[in-house]
Amino acid sequence: GRTQVGIVGAGPAGLLLAQMLNREGIDSVVLEARSRSHIESRIRAGLLEQGSVDTLAEAGLDARLRREGLPHDGLALRFAGASHRIDLQALTGRRVTIYGQQEVVKDMVAARLATGRPLHFGAEEVALHDIATDRPRLTWKQEGVPQELHCDVIAGCDGFHGPSREAMPPEILRIYERTYPFAWLGILAEAPPVSPELLYARHEEGFALATMRSQHLSRLYLQCAPEENLALWPEERIWQALGTRLGAVNRGRIVQKGLTAMRSYVAEPMRHGRLFLAGDAAHIVPPTGAKGMNLAIADVRVLAAALTSFFRQGDQGLMDRYSAICLQRIWKVQRFSWWMTALLHRFSEEDAFEPRVQLAELDYLVHSEAARTALAEQYVGLPYDI
Ligand code: FAD
Ligand code: DHB
Repeated sequence: GRTQVGIVGAGPAGLLLAQMLNREGIDSVVLEARSRSHIESRIRAGLLEQGSVDTLAEAGLDARLRREGLPHDGLALRFAGASHRIDLQALTGRRVTIYGQQEVVKDMVAARLATGRPLHFGAEEVALHDIATDRPRLTWKQEGVPQELHCDVIAGCDGFHGPSREAMPPEILRIYERTYPFAWLGILAEAPPVSPELLYARHEEGFALATMRSQHLSRLYLQCAPEENLALWPEERIWQALGTRLGAVNRGRIVQKGLTAMRSYVAEPMRHGRLFLAGDAAHIVPPTGAKGMNLAIADVRVLAAALTSFFRQGDQGLMDRYSAICLQRIWKVQRFSWWMTALLHRFSEEDAFEPRVQLAELDYLVHSEAARTALAEQYVGLPYDI
């Protein structure tokens, strides 16, 4: 087969790119390793920056999001036994929206299938070839049968463990990385959220976050050990820890439980020849600032614009600047996610200095509009370059 853009991965990055290209009349084929039901039920992120909502709207993907998304004008920070509201709307004029990533993915899959353009689930052994030439190829197996696709461009949107980043020559890639001495245990519980807005808590026992998916479904996270054994966290211990750290919590049936690893990671550059990386394929942020999915969407805005000017005008200028434009934002978001993580987690039992610095910074935040504004501007999302 043959297409203009071969897209590896049907996560938010790959599916949004497919949709934005389709609106420009550009042809693509999407290859996804997993099944449709798997990608539509995978529970992950849930918070959209206002710019992400606007981007989804421009791409025609916001019909259900507008009905079911939960807009939030503020959030709360809890420390030293008290909660303090940060009024995002008053500080920035912008807001964020809670809408589960799997709902975003469902809407994108439905939109893709409606275009009639190809989206292949269950693509096995996807491999990239000839990426430094202007005729790159993808090969894979569909139900055991070998397939080949000639492309003008390949978009590597296959997440952190996909083959695209691995296909870049190691000598041109620079990796910047930081790991953290903790992870998050996340649960989804059939219980009303304890407060209408998100609550981020810094506590001597460790971080906790109360978020939601609806008026009846709570999403709750707690800091735990990096390779925590979930068997050590029976329900009673989870609820106890959440209650202690968040001040109060509504209990309910736990319908999902999982661990989220914490790392900061950037691979530079994000382009080699005709291969472009977007989203988690190129970078990972710790989840504290809720930036993973938003950053994937921001990359795709730039990539869609670059590919549109290439296919429509034959202009490669934006393709050449793709990596540099994305990395400007990525590093600011990396810095913010690292900062939010450092502000709210317990790092070591021995170090008595760091907790004092955290408490001083939190106290400064709640008393300084300038400091709150800095947090709020980044939380609602920095302006786009493209
Ligand atoms: P992905 O969503 O990972 O999509 C990549 C796609 O490529 C997947 O569908 C995958 O199946 C497919 N793929 C992989 N390998 C191949 C292959 N060989 N061939 C074909 N297809 C392939 N962010 C937050 O902000 N808050 C959170 O609470 C949060 N929780 C998370 C929890 C987990 C367990 C994980 C993994 C991530 C979480 N994130 C969170 C991050 C956020 O979900 C990601 O940043 C976001 O999914 C990035 O989108 P993406 O499209 O780049 O990658
Ligand atoms: C959610 C996850 C986050 O990491 C965050 O900072 C805010 C919200 C969520 O899953 O809703």
